[in-house]
This record gives sequence, structure tokens and C-alpha cells, in this order.
Amino acid sequence: MTDIADRLEALRERGLYRRLRLVSGPQGPRVLLDGRPVLLLCSNNYLGLADHPRLRAAAAEAAMRWGAGAGASRLISGNMKPHRRLEERLTEFKGYQATLLFGAGYLANAGAIPALARRGEVVFSDELNHASIVDGCRLSRAETFVYRHGDVEHLAWGLREAEGRGSLIVTDGVFSMDGDIAPLEELVRLARRHDCRLMVDEAHATGALGPGGRGSVAAAGLSDEVDLVVGTLGKALGSYGAYVCASHELIAYLVNTARSFVFSTAPPPPAVAAALAALQLLESNPHQVERLRSNAAVLRTALAGEGLAVGGETQIVPVEVGGAAQTMELSERVLERGVFAQGIRPPTVPEGSSRLRFTVMATHRAGELQRAAKLVGAAARELGIAPVPAPAESLALAA
Ligand SMILES: Cc1ncc(COP(=O)(O)O)c(C=O)c1O
Repeated sequence: MTDIADRLEALRERGLYRRLRLVSGPQGPRVLLDGRPVLLLCSNNYLGLADHPRLRAAAAEAAMRWGAGAGASRLISGNMKPHRRLEERLTEFKGYQATLLFGAGYLANAGAIPALARRGEVVFSDELNHASIVDGCRLSRAETFVYRHGDVEHLAWGLREAEGRGSLIVTDGVFSMDGDIAPLEELVRLARRHDCRLMVDEAHATGALGPGGRGSVAAAGLSDEVDLVVGTLGKALGSYGAYVCASHELIAYLVNTARSFVFSTAPPPPAVAAALAALQLLESNPHQVERLRSNAAVLRTALAGEGLAVGGETQIVPVEVGGAAQTMELSERVLERGVFAQGIRPPTVPEGSSRLRFTVMATHRAGELQRAAKLVGAAARELGIAPVPAPAESLALAA
């Protein structure tokens, strides 16, 4: 038996050791981290709703009325009203026939994928899909064909090779570590041609993309074409839990077969009520989605202006560094100067593509995002990651 201490040491040696930091107060744009004030640039509380007074009040009222917990799986101890109401509202919001709540996005993927892709079939998964999708594919007894990121030619090849055994194509709508958007139109076309279902995980797209924050599928006008969308309540909607929207038939099937639904306690009523309040706020204040988009553009432009390798096209703004150790060093230096952005390393991202991942909130101020970018640029130059800007005279000579 390997000693756990040795395994931990091996993680440290590879620059992959992780530890938890203490944040005081709610997930606002500025927080106290281990007792020091920092600009928070790594929360998925995209619209700043997690500590919104209406969500707090809704959660508190629900706790008083329905209790702190749901008691059991909904198939065991009954369906509570808040769950049914939120499912109805999400169904309308997303433009589907029906919705099913899950305990978390992780559980939604870990339950829905194995329900849909069975032994002898093939599931097609983008190589940069979230870990919960990867685990959902592993839990299914199906063969998994991992296609190169966003590469529809590679996917088409895999579908042809599967010779009719393909059952499901699954993709993030917005990729969680890269901040780019899946090629949804081509995925729909391939799914139709090869008679496969298409499932899109909108965890980072709901509240951020599409009309009124309805997500990447709605943004592409494809709600009638994508068989299932998954979303979480824990990111832009500021609460906790997740959902799958699909046809009546598919949802009835998931109620009966998705093991993470059947064998897991329903989300707590306060979390469900808070998500419902978030949805109401989103519908009445869609300008917050615009604010998120414009803040993302401000940070992206400012980081690129520092000569950094900025990726993606959404509120997730990755800056590629390369090695895990160098990434963590940059993250520490930036933190010392008051900016909290996570260094992302393997196994979350492929070896050699470690990065600082910034996530923007609608509640950030443009000026603080610009100052943060300058500070990141300076730290990256100290570590030799960003180019040193050419002196003014040589620019003049070159011109
Ligand atoms: C694309 C994607 N799907 C699913 C999840 C899991 O969602 P949850 O945090 O609700 O478990 C995440 C979380 O980061 C995610 O990025």
C-alpha cells in the first residue's frame, strides 16, 4: 500500500498540491482572503446574486416555511412545492417542455449521461468538457470517443466509425477553463445526421449568454434542436443545485433512471427558493447580463494590452502560462498585490497548459479590472511570462 504522505509529497513536487483558503464574508467582488482585502476574480457568482438581499430573504423565508432540508430523494418522501415551482419557471425560461432538478451540476452530468448512453453504445465528448461530464461518461458503460476540442471534423469521423452505435454527443456550452463557446450549429447538424442526442452543459452560459442570459443554446437559436440542456444553480443564479431541461418523455425517463436523482436527497428548499428569486431578478433586470459582458470585455482588452496570452470570448478569461509551478508563482505574486485569481493546473487542464483563470462579475467596476490587469502584467514581466514593452524611442524608430 502506498503511503498517503508519499502521494502528497509527489503532488507537492509536481506543483499540484492544493489547499483551501479562508474567505470572510460573501462572494462579492472584493473579499477578505486569509484576513487580507483582495479583488475576487475567481468566483462563478457572475451576476453578484449569491448575496443579493432578495435571494437571502427568499432562502430565509423558505427555511422558515419548508425547513432546512428536503429529507430524502423526491421519489421517496414526495415532491415539495418549491422544487416543482422552480422546475416550471426553468422550463419557461429555457423554452423546453420539462425540467428536472438535481443536487448539483456534477450530479446532473453524472446521472444524465449514464442514463442516456448505455453499454454497446458510443458517447462523444469534447476533450475539454468539464470533469463531471468526463465522470458521467466513465460511469456509463458506453464507449467514449473524445474528440479534439471544438473539432467537428474529428467528431464527424468518430460518428462515421461508430456505424450507428452513437447515442449521445455531449459538450460544455461555454468551456469552463477556456471560456470559449462550443460550435453548436455544427454539433446539431452532426447529431441529426447520425441520429444521436445532443446534450449541452450551460453551467457557465446561463446568466451570461443569449437573450436575457438564457444561455448559449438560446443565443444560437437552437433550443428546439438541442435535446437536453444542463445548468447549475450555483454559478450565475447564486444558489446551489442544478437542472436538466428536455422533452416530457426524456425527463420522465431521467426521473426513472438517473441514479444521482433517484438515490440522492433533493436540493434543500432554501437553495431552491433562492434560485427561484434569482431567476425572477434575471428576468426583471436583464441589463446585469450586459454589464457582465462589458466587464468581461474590459478585463480581456486590458490583459491583452499587457501582452498576455488571453483566451476565450466570455466572462471566463484564461491567461495561458504553461508550467504548473510558474503558474502558481504568478498567482501568488498577483495575490500579494491584492488580486485573487486561481492558477489552474493538471488534472483540471492538460499538462503544459496551466493558466491563470479570471472570472469577471457584473458587480466589478471597470477601473478595478483595468488596475488588476496592469498589476498582473507587471508580475508576469517579473517572471518573464509577458513581453517587456519596447521603449518609446525604438517604437518611434520602427515607425
Ligand atoms: C461545465 C460545468 N458543468 C458542471 C459543473 C458542476 O456544477 P456544480 O458546481 O453545480 O456541481 C461545473 C462546475 O464548475 C462546470 O463548470
